Amino acid sequence: HKHSTSTQDNIVQHITNENDGEVMEAIDTNPPRGTRDFTPEDMRLRSWLFQNFREVSRLLSFEEVDFPVLESEALFIRKAGEEITQQLYNFEDKGGRRVVLRPEITPSLARLIMKQGKSLSLPLKWYTIGQCWRYERMTRGRRREHYQWNMDIIGISKVRAEAELIYAAVLLFERLGITASDVGIRVSSRKVLQAVLEKYSIPQHLFTKVCVIVDKLNKIPIDEIQNELISVGVSLGAVKGIIEVLSLKSFPELEAILGSDKEGVADLKKLFFFAEDYGFSQWIQLDVSVVRGLAYYTGIVFEAFDRDGKLRAICGGGRYDKLFSMFGGDDTPACGFGFGDAVIIELLKDKGLLPNLSHKVDDIVFPLDGELEGPASRIASALRRNGRSVDLIEDKRLKWVFKHAERIGANRLILVGNSEWQQGMVRVKDLSTREESNVKIEELC
Ligand code: HAM
Repeated sequence: HKHSTSTQDNIVQHITNENDGEVMEAIDTNPPRGTRDFTPEDMRLRSWLFQNFREVSRLLSFEEVDFPVLESEALFIRKAGEEITQQLYNFEDKGGRRVVLRPEITPSLARLIMKQGKSLSLPLKWYTIGQCWRYERMTRGRRREHYQWNMDIIGISKVRAEAELIYAAVLLFERLGITASDVGIRVSSRKVLQAVLEKYSIPQHLFTKVCVIVDKLNKIPIDEIQNELISVGVSLGAVKGIIEVLSLKSFPELEAILGSDKEGVADLKKLFFFAEDYGFSQWIQLDVSVVRGLAYYTGIVFEAFDRDGKLRAICGGGRYDKLFSMFGGDDTPACGFGFGDAVIIELLKDKGLLPNLSHKVDDIVFPLDGELEGPASRIASALRRNGRSVDLIEDKRLKWVFKHAERIGANRLILVGNSEWQQGMVRVKDLSTREESNVKIEELC
């Protein structure tokens, strides 16, 4: 707007400003690309899923924790070329601090554990459910914001930790009605890749970079993988060795190449023994090509996938024994997984396993005439104090109220009418049996 030079102009400008609301271009009603609104229906589904996450966490004796969605950017500066570090929602806040909307939760968890330091007694079993942000190219089940259920065990170096975590994921699937013929869990260990690098005398500092490159195996052409490996300094012979090992799907083949004394192989075998005892053998399979894309994994890694091969990983995780020392703390054994809310919902949709969740209230209270709004308030508040959920309805026709009762799955319709009220009663319709009767106010709850 132009500068105004007189009071008259000021008034004119003021009026135009007030009118801005009307002439403004209509807003885009879509949320920002890659993000979601949750309608009541969506929210019921989300809460149901989270309830299952929580219940499985409880069954395994995990404690819930939480962290800020906004974190220091420094937590996510890593130099291995991971995709996740290129997808950051990062910016400077008004105080000049570099911050990010977290793309994952593991660094926050490590930060808190380091902060608590010696006051914590290990092992710890922690879970959290939180929103994460990644500027991704969108595909089905991959978005720019998602919720992740994380389960992490800190302070156990034995394969027991991996076994418990994979069991937790399986327990979740079973609760949702998903079977081992719908979903499988691929398991490998980065120690296998490390053994291959040792065999070819590739320096240790290239290990993380190699993992991050190899993770792209099924996403970009193999020639590109080879070129990338060579460009970071892996010899052609070693590249061939790596690619040969990655295709292995059985222990005998693996042992034939690496020998049976390798730690990575022993860990994996132990895990497969545990699987028998926990009862999840039919869910897991050895697949050396799995390395996962995050730089900090050091040992066993795993991912759940749909057997129809239509969706991206349902969950992913592994051991990260070096993250604490990367952050300048003491080495601490750690293992965990992240399980997103998006892919699993797509899978449940495909399998016809989405639950039918409706809004549930116990009672509807409806005054039959305007003068009874006081009594209706009393009845509704008494019922609510007694723990019943009550929808108090006014200014509608009875026909609408009946329809509404059906829509929200109410159990009872409580009609407050003048003559009944005079006698300390209300008319109650049981909506499942369709029976109607007069009930004393004090007998309602
Ligand atoms: P991640 O493999 O990057 O691991 O992600 C874990 C899971 O989060 C994925 O398998 C998927 O379910 C979900 N997810 C990731 N990105 C997206 C996206 N853009 N849209 C929808 N869902 C997504 C981690 O984040 C590790 N911090 C997990 C972990 C915990 N490792 C140890 N502890």
